[in-house]
Amino acid sequence: MDTRMVLLDRDNLKEEQFAEAAELLRNGELVAFPTETVYGLGGNALDPGASAKIYAAKGRPSDNPLIVHICDTAALPVLAKNIPESAWKLAERFWPGPMTMILEKQDIVPKETTGGLNTIAIRMPSDEIAAMLIKVSGLYIAAPSANASGRPSTTKASHVWEDLHGRIAMILDGGSVQIGLESTIIDLTGEKPLILRPGYITLEDIRDILPDAEFDPAVLRRERNDNIVAKAPGMKYRHYAPKGELTVFEGDLSDVVEAVRREAARKQAEGYKTAILASEETKDRYPGFIVLSVGKREDEEGIAACLFDTLREFDHMGAEYIFGECFRSDGVGQAVMNRLMKAAGYHIVYAGPKSRAKK
Ligand code: TXA
Ligand code: MG
Repeated sequence: MDTRMVLLDRDNLKEEQFAEAAELLRNGELVAFPTETVYGLGGNALDPGASAKIYAAKGRPSDNPLIVHICDTAALPVLAKNIPESAWKLAERFWPGPMTMILEKQDIVPKETTGGLNTIAIRMPSDEIAAMLIKVSGLYIAAPSANASGRPSTTKASHVWEDLHGRIAMILDGGSVQIGLESTIIDLTGEKPLILRPGYITLEDIRDILPDAEFDPAVLRRERNDNIVAKAPGMKYRHYAPKGELTVFEGDLSDVVEAVRREAARKQAEGYKTAILASEETKDRYPGFIVLSVGKREDEEGIAACLFDTLREFDHMGAEYIFGECFRSDGVGQAVMNRLMKAAGYHIVYAGPKSRAKK
């Protein structure tokens, strides 16, 4: 299949520009589009055939449910039932925006879209291109992140092309996304609101509205643990990973820099293509190595915005081993570290005087 790349000018968006993409979606084809978080791979959420195409294009396991994107809260009762008051409160505060809610699904939503579950993930994106596409198509759009399964999510149209060209009908190119990490997912089907995936909207933000909200225990784990069942099926897979083997070091920054330098030197001496994931503050402390900086350490939003792009850069340079620094894990940093730990397959090493594993 030929994949068409359509460049859109954000300062000059008109509904007519979405007619062709909307038509493709109505015909059961797939269109990738930008959202404020990451690019999404869209298909008609009520068409089981379109959902099947999404799984096939991504190479994604079919028990991993899709997020359904809407442009109006009127869609909520169409797609979900037994909607609690908490859902309306969250919608009022955070939509349109990077927040996804899990609710009980209505019968019109096919199980193909929800990975066989009786619940549905719903989000109203704030990105103007996403909103216009949903509106013009008149559909509810199922859209996982527009990456090949297991690879870092896509934050630019060129990433989408890299992973999916030849497999989907169209890519709407709206430039680089704003946030760079996927939406915060909140499950409202249990006794307490549970955050299944941290994102730009933090636990503190959610607690402003729902004081009893908590993280799902699977979010807080610091190691691979198959005994903790992830409630968001997608969170159990190896994810966001560059092709090279990534190890992340934590501890005092000077210990971290020393450990990264030592381990990178060891692999480089063994003849492997080795690279370092660093920050603006530390990037000059690795002379003789290939170093990519994700930004200033205190700028968590900046790090979020370029983390996935940087992980892909390591693939472009053919890095076989990557050694990285840890970043702050408060606020948006919680989401940054969640993605980085998954990208490293939870290979986190404590770089301290005693070099012991810190749990
Ligand atoms: O920011 C985002 O959320 C992006 C953009 C495109 O909107 N989408 C996204 O979709 O990240 P995806 O498919 O890559 O991640 C969806 C996550 C997966 O971990 C999936 O398991 C979980 O949401 N999920 C979807 N439906 C669910 C459900 N009914 N119950 C629990 N988890 C669910
Ligand atoms: Mg994804």
